[in-house]
Amino acid sequence: MLSKELEKALNEQINAELWSAYLYLSMSMDFASKGFAGIANWFAVQFKEEQDHATILMNYVNSRDGKVVLAPIAEVATEWATTIDAFKDTYAHEQKVTALINGLNALAVEGKDYATQNMLQWFINEQVEEEDTARSYIDALEKIGDNGYGLYMFDKELAARTYTTPSPLAGK
Ligand code: FEO
Repeated sequence: MLSKELEKALNEQINAELWSAYLYLSMSMDFASKGFAGIANWFAVQFKEEQDHATILMNYVNSRDGKVVLAPIAEVATEWATTIDAFKDTYAHEQKVTALINGLNALAVEGKDYATQNMLQWFINEQVEEEDTARSYIDALEKIGDNGYGLYMFDKELAARTYTTPSPLAGK
């Protein structure tokens, strides 16, 4: 059974993942409204992935006889002046999520909860990828600068992103 402290922290993480989903959905809608269908697609996939992160955690809390308590989701920004601003916000946000996951893991280590540490390993690896992707897009957008054709091609590239079910949910 989960300790009360970990149960509370996991519920906070579920809220943070749902807030992330809401943030990326807002980015997707902003870029869709500006005619960047590819960037909107990329953030729409990101929105689905964040919902998956919340689902993985909710399933886990349930499997450990804990109680999922869904708290209100705080407001998110609705507009980004430039594409690079959105990816800088994405990168900064993912760094915060990494710190939250590390904090959760530290709590699980302290409480000798090996099952939670094991479950969190997937998130620890996922965060490396999340940060790396956001950083690589910032690098690309810095090179593109205000080149319209470059941005057009960037949008085309991001249109190719497709959604895949993450391994902890596959087969469930
Ligand atoms: Fe669920 Fe992007 O962290």
